[in-house]
Amino acid sequence: MTAHMLGAEGAGDEIVGTVTSGGTESILLAMKAYRDRARERGGESDPEVVAPATAHAAFDKAAQYLGLTLVRTPVDDGYRADVGAVREAITDRTAAIVGSAPSFPHGVVDPIPELAEIARERGVALHVDACLGGFVLPWAERLGYPVPPFDFRLPGVTSMSADTHKYGYAPKGTSVVLYRDADLRRHQYFTATDWPGGLYFSPTMAGSRPGALSAACWAAMVAMGEEGYMEAARAILETGAEVRAGIAEIPGLRVLGDPLWVIAFASEEVDVYRVMDRMAERGWSLNGLQRPPAAHFAVTLRHTQPGVVERLLEDLRAAVAEAGARPDGEGELAPVYGMAAALPEEAVRELLGSFVDMLYRV
Ligand SMILES: Cc1ncc(COP(=O)(O)O)c(C=O)c1O
Repeated sequence: MTAHMLGAEGAGDEIVGTVTSGGTESILLAMKAYRDRARERGGESDPEVVAPATAHAAFDKAAQYLGLTLVRTPVDDGYRADVGAVREAITDRTAAIVGSAPSFPHGVVDPIPELAEIARERGVALHVDACLGGFVLPWAERLGYPVPPFDFRLPGVTSMSADTHKYGYAPKGTSVVLYRDADLRRHQYFTATDWPGGLYFSPTMAGSRPGALSAACWAAMVAMGEEGYMEAARAILETGAEVRAGIAEIPGLRVLGDPLWVIAFASEEVDVYRVMDRMAERGWSLNGLQRPPAAHFAVTLRHTQPGVVERLLEDLRAAVAEAGARPDGEGELAPVYGMAAALPEEAVRELLGSFVDMLYRV
């Protein structure tokens, strides 16, 4: 069903895939497949992956876990992958390049057709991370929103991740990774031939896996159906447009890039992290971004209910006014981001580790 939704019919190849535990695992597995195939083909022991700065941190995690080198490239003024920079970053060691549809931070879709063309030209793989948009963009396109091709209809796209547990409305713990060919999927498997416990094989990261989650995911997908997804996307995209326009009208705030339903904003006039703290006091949970300092709001189906956007924008207007008027107010996130910006990277890592330790203590 996911392959069908993401252009399998127009792909000219048989698209195959696996259900995983989430976006991160889908990305880890695709990167493992590329690493192992690169090693098999060229004996290359340190393959590289080229990813725009805005591609999800799961690619850093994959690189760290798998011993890959992740080469980050800059994005343009609209926060989309700089195609020229990606082209220049490709070397003989490049196993794959990455594009997001859309990116987590700013909700903008990278120029996937251009990246796919480069991938084809240079003979490298292209993973399109549609964890966030896989279950929205196909319907956005059908609804007439300006969505350039981003899926298997582009011959250069060799793998994709799409999260059923986000806009697929399945319970948390499921995602889908798709490949253009079965040989590539084969490289994600783990096999052990000499273990006394028997001949062992496992397609994904986990050993034992919850069949109930896959069943619940399937049930969610057939319960929603194409029509359900289309209607959900319609409501989310309409609400996204209202949120975007509303934020753009608030004096002091600036919307970043050209987003559809994940709307990031920055400010030259107030501390955007203080705005987040003031929003948190009102019960709104926004995500903090950095480089540049910004925050985003991801519209979900719950926000499409009557009155929610009005309340969000009213609270945001008040939060901006307060953040400007009480610059030294107490807060949770503003001091943390302020400190993170001023500290060396190693110290910030230490801080994050200690924060996780603290969560285990409470
Ligand atoms: C674009 C993108 N990729 C990957 C992920 C990672 O997904 P997960 O949190 O399910 O591991 C996310 C999560 O928000 C995402 O937005």
